[in-house]
Amino acid sequence: MKTLYCDASSLVLPGEAFGQLEVIEHGAFLVEDGKISWVGVTSAAPAADEQVSLAGKTVIPGFVDSHSHLIFAGDRSEEFSYRMAGQPYKSGGINTTVRDTRAATDEELRTNARRLVEEFRASGITYFEIKSGYGLDTESELRSLRIAREFTEDVTFLGAHVIPEGVEREQYIAEVIGPMLAGAVDYAKWIDVFCDQGAFSLEESRAILEAGIAVGLKPRMHSNQLGNQGGIQLGVELGCASIDHCTNLSEADINSLAGSNTVVTLVPGAEFSTKSKYPDAGSLVAAGITVAIATDCNPGSSFTTSMPFCISIAVREMGLSPDEALWAATRGGASALQNKRGSLAVGSDADFVVLDAPNHIHLAYRPGVQLVEQTYVAGQKVFER
Ligand code: NIG
Ligand code: FE
Repeated sequence: MKTLYCDASSLVLPGEAFGQLEVIEHGAFLVEDGKISWVGVTSAAPAADEQVSLAGKTVIPGFVDSHSHLIFAGDRSEEFSYRMAGQPYKSGGINTTVRDTRAATDEELRTNARRLVEEFRASGITYFEIKSGYGLDTESELRSLRIAREFTEDVTFLGAHVIPEGVEREQYIAEVIGPMLAGAVDYAKWIDVFCDQGAFSLEESRAILEAGIAVGLKPRMHSNQLGNQGGIQLGVELGCASIDHCTNLSEADINSLAGSNTVVTLVPGAEFSTKSKYPDAGSLVAAGITVAIATDCNPGSSFTTSMPFCISIAVREMGLSPDEALWAATRGGASALQNKRGSLAVGSDADFVVLDAPNHIHLAYRPGVQLVEQTYVAGQKVFER
């Protein structure tokens, strides 16, 4: 079965280089067996079994969300309202969610994640990573990883999120790199650590990441969100696919990232929701660093599933151009996960989004407006407004 999607006002094809987009007016593409088999202008389109007109619409690749924490229970809206009244964000809030998550049944965790995945699709996200990190004992972490694996191939072990209440520090870290890690390898592809004030020190982060690497997991980090304890140099040295947050960076950090293959994943929802200053993405781009944008969806610091919301903040507050922001939310996310998604090149999975807009700039230009009209994964419609 060949389906031709045609007449799109704007068909947006992210290129290989950061921020580079090719925009085809009156664009068309052919979907065959869930893959893109042809792309070009409508007037040159090949014959198809079925034709779908997208006149007046923009087509972009589905967003790739490389950072989410969907396995949790409970609500921290009150903590959010205290922050808006001036209280600072603290990593200790994670333990509130740990209590609620441990008390939830598997089915409750699954139902909550499913609901958030539906929201992802409505926001144009077609592929996403999920972390553990709200279990923080061996049984609860492995349960989170097992449930996360029902939703995605990119599961990240974040046993090192914070030290849970009632456990001694050294004992907990021994559990993370001992029995937790031994079980995590059955579900996880990635190992992550929250290397920051109130979470894990540089030395602890190194020990945890190296233990993960030794059993075949690939490293990534949460770092430099709340302070700067040298996590960037560590992440670069260990070959992290991505270092996420990067709210507080020194010039030396930027230089060290510039000489590496490590992606910087910005999470605008976190600065928004913790009332923190936004990082300067422009200086990262100027240094030649690959930047991704992710939702960081979690109940504490960034309870959004909306990639368009993150894009609009990245453009308005962080200094990315609309082209760079779209690239960062598609190819950038894919680069942070070291895969080839986020593309509409021939041979790609037909993961695409139809926007009710004449061009992709509207994603930032019309903040808070539901422009995503349809979302497709492997050629199948998974969301329609
Ligand atoms: O990515 N920074 C660390 N972890 C999460 C927040 C977790 C929470 O507050 O529940 C994040 O922002
Ligand atoms: Fe996070």
